[in-house]
Amino acid sequence: MKTIQIQDKTFATFLTENEILKEVKRVASEINRDMAGKDPVFLCVLNGSFMFASDLMKEIDFPCNLSFVKLASYEGVSSTGTVKQLIGINGYIKGRAVVVVEDIVDTGHTMVNLLETLKAYEPSEVRICTLLCKPEKLQVKLDIDYVALNIPNDFIVGYGLDCDGYGRNYRDIYKIVENK
Ligand code: IMP
Ligand code: MG
Repeated sequence: MKTIQIQDKTFATFLTENEILKEVKRVASEINRDMAGKDPVFLCVLNGSFMFASDLMKEIDFPCNLSFVKLASYEGVSSTGTVKQLIGINGYIKGRAVVVVEDIVDTGHTMVNLLETLKAYEPSEVRICTLLCKPEKLQVKLDIDYVALNIPNDFIVGYGLDCDGYGRNYRDIYKIVENK
């Protein structure tokens, strides 16, 4: 088992690239079965999904569009408070089937926010595809259409996921080692 160090935290191998890719391919085959002929737009959420999106999209075998988006929060001056905006979306969503590609669903609040923001662009259908889900931490009702791997509550890094901006570059996924 390999360990990596990020700042003062130690992480140990949790899922190898081969284990991840096996499940990414399974999810891709489910999407190929369900979405072929629907001319969907894959909306990959930055930064965390970049590696997952790359491996997933190589397995998608029908015509589709691909775009990267980022959810930005602005502190509004109006009484409505925080305003969410999707960076990277243009006018092409209206009437289209959308597959949101995320790195991880933890409490689920980020995804709920994203779905709410997406509504304004009037897609015909929205499906969720996530690399990872921590089912025990989910705080909202969310129908996730495609999950590559359900994992326990531990904090993880690698394969796109970060700890304070570090660790996204690793091909395997690492789990935090509890300090004694
Ligand atoms: P949620 O809103 O609680 O579902 O949080 C989702 C976001 O938290 C993800 O998009 C990640 O950026 C981050 N996150 C949650 N769990 C982890 C983890 O174990 N490692 C790295 N980032 C995580
Ligand atoms: Mg994320």
